[in-house]
Amino acid sequence: ARIAVLISGRGSNLQALIDAAANPDFPGDIALVISNRPNAKGLERAQEAGIQQETIDHKDFENREDFEAALNDALKIAKIDFVCLAGFMRLLTDSFASDWRGRLINIHPSLLPAFKGLHVHERMIEAGVKVAGCTVHFVSSEVDAGPIIGQAVVPVLPGDTEETLAARILEQEHLLYPACLKLLIDGKARLSGNSVPYTEDVI
Ligand code: GRF
Repeated sequence: ARIAVLISGRGSNLQALIDAAANPDFPGDIALVISNRPNAKGLERAQEAGIQQETIDHKDFENREDFEAALNDALKIAKIDFVCLAGFMRLLTDSFASDWRGRLINIHPSLLPAFKGLHVHERMIEAGVKVAGCTVHFVSSEVDAGPIIGQAVVPVLPGDTEETLAARILEQEHLLYPACLKLLIDGKARLSGNSVPYTEDVI
């Protein structure tokens, strides 16, 4: 299977996917990395791994539809089967989400449906939650929503700051994302109506 990863920044989840896919047993190849920001650190990671990369800067387009048409063209030319959002900071339209329905996934640093959106770690510390984690889910048109493929849980510890909590969650993100992508490619995580039939523990 041919995988595209869409990023906007650091690209540590992209790196985890690249590293996992380097294993000959992994059922897919990271064939394309697209960033909407020209200076994303993740683009360097793609380059180092010898992966085709492209910047499609949303600022070059008049509207979301045109931006997404450019994304779609790049994905089609590269014959992409599945798309992973990894720190991709643009909202996608209903139309893009439905074009890629069942083949488009995202990772979010909370136990969804709790703490959607931005500044998640800060909000979790403020709320005083005792457990946190991350979620990989199919993308629907609503932000950070959609049928859940897998989750990993971490404790929130006394004295945690945004940074320490984010680091603990990120470590799990890097395990969870490749594991969920593998389930997707293998057809073990699939959409049925608006949910994902339970298959097995992801990690
Ligand atoms: C991760 O925390 C991911 O869950 C969220 O954005 C962050 C991206 O980090 N969607 P990176 O670019 O993968 O390092």
